Amino acid sequence: MKICVTGGMGYIGSHTCVELIKNNHVPVIIDNLSNSNKEVLNRIETITGYRPKFYKLDLIKEERLDKIFKKEKFDAVIHFAGLKAVGESVKKPKLYYGNNIGISVILLKVMRRNGVKNIIFSSSATVYGVPTHVPLVETDPIGEATNPYGQTKIEIEKMLMREHEIDPSFNIVLLRYFNPVGAHESGLMGEDPWGIPNNLMPYINQVAVGRRECLTIFGNDYPTHDGTGVRDYIHVVDLALGHVAALKPIQEKQGLKIYNLGTGKGTSVLDLVKAYDEANNIQIKYQIGPRRAGDVAENYADATLAKNELGWEAKFNIVEMCRDSYNWQKKNPNGYNVEPSEK
Ligand code: NAD
Ligand code: UD1
Repeated sequence: MKICVTGGMGYIGSHTCVELIKNNHVPVIIDNLSNSNKEVLNRIETITGYRPKFYKLDLIKEERLDKIFKKEKFDAVIHFAGLKAVGESVKKPKLYYGNNIGISVILLKVMRRNGVKNIIFSSSATVYGVPTHVPLVETDPIGEATNPYGQTKIEIEKMLMREHEIDPSFNIVLLRYFNPVGAHESGLMGEDPWGIPNNLMPYINQVAVGRRECLTIFGNDYPTHDGTGVRDYIHVVDLALGHVAALKPIQEKQGLKIYNLGTGKGTSVLDLVKAYDEANNIQIKYQIGPRRAGDVAENYADATLAKNELGWEAKFNIVEMCRDSYNWQKKNPNGYNVEPSEK
């Protein structure tokens, strides 16, 4: 299939492009590079031998987007584009509503106008709100958003559900990701956050390569097996393959489908640090700090629906996730900001 990949230069989008190419699909990337680097195209080409077509465009620009759709005649869209920093969304809620919801409204309009009625959307476990139980199942209700970023995911999911109600021939897959980590095994692609990382694995990576002194563990008094927060970490390549698998209900015109993409296994912060040390034969320095506002004790997926219906299952374990994360960071200590000599 010829697939429009919005946000395809980003962390999850770039890994998905690689797996799409490997599975004989043709990704065409649209991205404004607001949180990514054009070097990603070279890396995709090095890994796959194919350089995807790339349009540098802010999706808010409806006319130009429409022209691209008229020219390219896409079969489907995978919609990754959006801002994703939870803390920033609390400080700048309008930016998040304007960008994430705004571009999704325009994308849907352009899709409708051009008769493209197939979309996979990057949603998040955050739509469940504060979990009242784990594991989370797709039939659990959408909860109260805990921050503006989460609210945008809820609004976009609801907008897509309404679209399917109005036009049942619109095929929509909502993928609710748990905690994506890891990197391509080549070490050529990985997560490249700007500034101080908010998320656990990028922070550990930067401690590992000496960019940060010490990891602070946010609380060790949660009701979990070792007192630290438990999450469902999933390797980004498994996640990428989840998108390839999600093309099945699109091709079979199954209408509206929702899947959790996680491993179904809970891992604590201390478990992850231990796995990282073991995988990479190093010792991550850490200290225990206070809890982070808005954090929950435990959050992990029931991923059996994706297994039963898509034939998809996460394959990488936590040690492999840590190995690939470190491999990427070690080879690219400053992310994609390649040195002039490497250009
Ligand atoms: P990312 O920031 O690496 O990638 C997003 C891409 O979208 C970036 O390349 C950015 O430049 C682009 N973009 C943003 N606004 C745009 C606009 N207006 N026009 C064109 N391009 C635009 O993020 P990611 O981690 O790859 O996440 C991809 C998607 O998955 C996002 O929608 C995110 O909310 C969702 N998600 C991510 C996580 C996670 O932990 N990484 C978890 C759940 C859901
Ligand atoms: C966070 C967001 C969530 C978002 C997800 C993906 C919050 C409250 N939640 O999820 O909405 O969908 O990222 O972008 O921001 N931790 C430390 N030290 C650190 C960093 C994290 O101990 O320096 C702990 C956290 O307390 C948590 C675990 O590590 O227990 C994972 O944290 P993180 O990677 O930020 O992911 P989430 O909080 O699950």
